Amino acid sequence: MALTVTPLPPLSAPSPALELAPVPVSATLAANETMDDRRRRGEPVLPMAFGEAGLPAPRLLRTALARAAGYTSYGPVAGHTVLREAATLYWGRRGLPTDADAVVCGPGSKALLYALMTAIGGDVAVTQPSWVSYAAQAGLAGRTARFVPGAAGVPDAEALERVLAGAGGTGGRIRSVVVTLPDNPTGRLATPAAVAALVEVARRHGLIIISDEIYRDLVHDVRAPFLSPAEIYPERTVVTTGLSKNLALGGWRLGVARLPDGELGRELSARLLGIGSEIWSAPAGPVQQAAALAFSEPPAVSERIALSRRLHARVARAVAARFTMAGVAVPAPQAAFYLYPDFSPLAGVLRRRHAVTSDTGLADVLLRKYGVGVLPGSAFGDRAGRLRLRVATSLLYGETETERMAALNSPQPCSLPWIGGALARLEEVLADFVGFTG
Ligand SMILES: Cc1ncc(COP(=O)(O)O)c(C=O)c1O
Repeated sequence: MALTVTPLPPLSAPSPALELAPVPVSATLAANETMDDRRRRGEPVLPMAFGEAGLPAPRLLRTALARAAGYTSYGPVAGHTVLREAATLYWGRRGLPTDADAVVCGPGSKALLYALMTAIGGDVAVTQPSWVSYAAQAGLAGRTARFVPGAAGVPDAEALERVLAGAGGTGGRIRSVVVTLPDNPTGRLATPAAVAALVEVARRHGLIIISDEIYRDLVHDVRAPFLSPAEIYPERTVVTTGLSKNLALGGWRLGVARLPDGELGRELSARLLGIGSEIWSAPAGPVQQAAALAFSEPPAVSERIALSRRLHARVARAVAARFTMAGVAVPAPQAAFYLYPDFSPLAGVLRRRHAVTSDTGLADVLLRKYGVGVLPGSAFGDRAGRLRLRVATSLLYGETETERMAALNSPQPCSLPWIGGALARLEEVLADFVGFTG
């Protein structure tokens, strides 16, 4: 009997989800390739495209990870009890009392965010601009990301209300809204008033809030008022965080989600565990043990985070000052290692000197002419004509572990030769770029 093979459907008509996904990744990779070419030619580069925290692993956690190598079994999908309990205490210390049953761990918060979007269903409201992966993940999950203008990682409440009331009733398909506290790409922290206003809209429409608090411990001023939506809307807020940013352990791939209490939390937990069990089974066992130690915050961990905060703040501020000197508008960085400069005050100069009228054109000239790697705001859902860029400052800390540790331990990191040199180069590039004669 002849064997019949059913042909696979053609891939020539990609779904909107597949069209969305690769754009930001390729922008970063393209920037890296161009910078590598320049390095090989011995030309200077300023790598500021990639949001990697850029610091070595703390010794205490390295030791804990090595000691835990014997954790070879898959373990529970939700994570080891010791880790879930440490996470409840971590949140408890931040005004969010948490039950261990409400904690689900995963291989990075990114995987948990994707699983949450899948578990919640419906369309997802995200801030314009916001971290690249929210919209890409919504697309991959077969959902639509609805960009809502906002600031510092939180959609503007009135704008969200308008989108929810939107044309053709499509606003009614939105079931969740993502906030980022503090924010990537802007490096800003939303005010409690902006968070409270958003919560009121979410409450009126029964939306679930996903509060991505992965940079929470990197707010430069520890006294800055911080309001998590979970404090005032605990029944429908999910909080996510992880090791990647506060402790610069992105490659360890460990994230945690704090689900709401009550029926919704139980339902989301069941769905997340179902998704996790089919995709990642459980986070890596040894990493969970080390993460349990990290979330219990022994003094060495708290001191490391305090030093990181100081370094991020000093370098981000120094880089911001270089942009300001060149006439670029930069909101003062408040958290992590990001800046979001706005070149629109120089729009005329950009057009005349460089024939640049879009953020992608701007990023392209900076990369090709000067070896400065940055990302255009449109990679974060911003309007290309707004001439805004996302600048990540943490890869300026050094190329070796020794340099990065020296940066971390220095009260004046900008006077270290490699960081000072990068700042001087940036000043020179920006002066040439905008045509300052001195
Ligand atoms: C806002 C935001 N959320 C989540 C993540 C990813 O975190 P993880 O490494 O835990 O997957 C990033 C990483 O760039 C981020 O910027």
